[in-house]
Amino acid sequence: MYGYAVSRLFAVNDAPTRTRLDTVTVPVDADGPRLEVLAGSGARVVVTTPAHQFPSGIAYTAERRAGLLDWARAVDGLVIEDDYDGDFRYDRAPVGALQGLGPDRVAYTGSVSKSLAPGLRLGWLVVPERLAGEVAARKRTLDLGNPALDQAALAYFIGCGAYDRHLRRCQRAYRERRDTLVAALLERFPGAVVTGIAAGLHVIVRLPPGYGPQPRFLAGAAAAGVVLRPLSDFGTAPAGDGSVRLVLGYAHLPPAEIERAVRLLPAG
Ligand SMILES: Cc1ncc(COP(=O)(O)O)c(C=O)c1O
Repeated sequence: MYGYAVSRLFAVNDAPTRTRLDTVTVPVDADGPRLEVLAGSGARVVVTTPAHQFPSGIAYTAERRAGLLDWARAVDGLVIEDDYDGDFRYDRAPVGALQGLGPDRVAYTGSVSKSLAPGLRLGWLVVPERLAGEVAARKRTLDLGNPALDQAALAYFIGCGAYDRHLRRCQRAYRERRDTLVAALLERFPGAVVTGIAAGLHVIVRLPPGYGPQPRFLAGAAAAGVVLRPLSDFGTAPAGDGSVRLVLGYAHLPPAEIERAVRLLPAG
């Protein structure tokens, strides 16, 4: 069995279904995945996002990270660490990969989808040594390899230092966009609560109950030309009090556009 320590990993979550793997969803609290649920699930492989959980935006605590490794050792299992946006942390240096703490129990995955372009389909996978041969063989069977020219171009881009410069430029721009979004939200919706660490490309915001119920708020925003995704789209139950909880991406919009979009949201 395969466990997902995410409420919804939309990008890859239908892969197990398509490959007919038996999966179970593991809930996440403020510290990380609920390890007792994982342990009780019978799973021996978990796909998880320790550096920045999607969608909640939390980073797993050191205890929960250690607990994941203990679980993997106890069940002779594997943690698949999905480091999907680890290049972007705005308040401190990124936390080290879980893989570094347990290279024999963790398969680390990352890609340039968030840092360059998802259409490139280039990424990396660091697996425990005992699995390397089989993983390489299966990858070859699946697709006969990724485009060599794209890989060579990326290798050059990294090797000459341009990728690092690009990341630093993005880091500055995205931090400014995040700060702009958070400030605009707090001004337009006094009492709003933004949660999740300062990282990645999205924030979670909860508006005070007075701005709900959520369906009416979303309809009002859509009528004003702003399409929003509520947190409930990502496998999280709607708030009991009807308050509006949103997943907002900011990386693709310049600050002035972000401010304009927030001003268009219904605040009456
Ligand atoms: C949590 C998470 N994991 C993985 C991915 C997919 O990344 P890739 O394009 O590298 O397959 C995404 C894409 O948005 C994501 O949000």
